[in-house]
Amino acid sequence: SSVKIGLIPADGIGREVIPAARTVLESLTDGPKFEFVNLDAGFEYFQKTGTALPQETLDILKNECNGALFGAVSSPSHKVAGYSSPIVALRKKLDLYANVRPVASVKSPAFPNQRELDMLIIRENTECLYIKSERVEVDPETGLKVAWADRKITEYASKRAGVMAFNMALTRQKLREQKPLEKRFWKQNPRVTIVHKSNVMSVTDGLWRETVRAVKEQNSEKYSGVDMEEQLVDSMVYRMFREPEAFDVVVAPNLYGDIISDGAAALVGSLGVVPSANVGDNFVVGEPVHGSAPDIAGKGIANPIAAIRSAGLLLEHLGHTQQALKMYDAVDAVLAEGKILTPDLGGKSTTTDVVNAVLKNL
Ligand code: NAI
Ligand code: MG
Repeated sequence: SSVKIGLIPADGIGREVIPAARTVLESLTDGPKFEFVNLDAGFEYFQKTGTALPQETLDILKNECNGALFGAVSSPSHKVAGYSSPIVALRKKLDLYANVRPVASVKSPAFPNQRELDMLIIRENTECLYIKSERVEVDPETGLKVAWADRKITEYASKRAGVMAFNMALTRQKLREQKPLEKRFWKQNPRVTIVHKSNVMSVTDGLWRETVRAVKEQNSEKYSGVDMEEQLVDSMVYRMFREPEAFDVVVAPNLYGDIISDGAAALVGSLGVVPSANVGDNFVVGEPVHGSAPDIAGKGIANPIAAIRSAGLLLEHLGHTQQALKMYDAVDAVLAEGKILTPDLGGKSTTTDVVNAVLKNL
């Protein structure tokens, strides 16, 4: 079979880590045949042309590609007329309704104090406070400004995220069962933890909670082997830092999911190793969690691991699971050895050194 992947490096170290991930994909020998197409987007592209996400990029993705890899965008900290983030637009236009973020530790002599964890965070990707419905008014009594934001939670989007969470819990279990028992980190039943704050936000978070719960309750046979628990978002953060090993799949509304997944990244050493995939029913975009890292861009020392793992996630969601596992294993072997590491992980190696080490382990 053949797979066509759109490559959108965009800005900063996106231009270093996306080619690195491509090199690793190209050296997989027994999987699908890959075709790549380089596509424009990003803030620099906006500065040159006045658009951050050209129609041509969207058309090629929709009409020719099976999936895509996105690097990172630089977003200006002040408002720039006409500019809006191309990755946010892509998520919307391609209906990529779940952001899937595995956060797992690798044992290595290079990080002796590493907590052990292997969780998968599923963040609803289309609504919540991020619909950006904001306004400001002046309070006639005090003359002071009042800013408002709307929060949208739908049964439709909550259900899709919930189904994804329970299905991923089953998929993870199947993959675990391929490993010998002593190599399995998670030894309990698969589990979905629903994050919410419905004790306070009883209408919005209440609908989220009920809808995700109903996914299991209405498919009790299919998901009978998956345990379900709930965690209020504030105590979720507490528990995640105290006992990160206690979580398997975690599903959260957009804002809470954004916050807890960046926090979880801190538990595994560096933003430079944490991948994500934006997943919809018809398309998937792999995307490292990190940004464009202007402080190190152009120096050749960006950690390519997040991007390589994101390429693995892309393959996994396109159904090429065995090739994805090969990529993960090769990356884990490099980390476990702990000799070829970029500066963010305390080493002195370059992006290219890490890619070569991954290729050697493939
Ligand atoms: P950042 O993720 O770009 O960088 C944070 C820190 O982590 C920096 O010290 C950077 O050098 C380091 N870092 C990140 N990725 C790394 C890698 N692969 N290897 C080694 N070190 C790495 O976040 P920051 O600095 O807050 O934002 C920089 C720009 O990126 C901003 O314009 C921001 O808007 C944008 N951004 C874009 C995102 C996206 O495209 N999805 C996500 C987050 C930020
Ligand atoms: Mg974030």
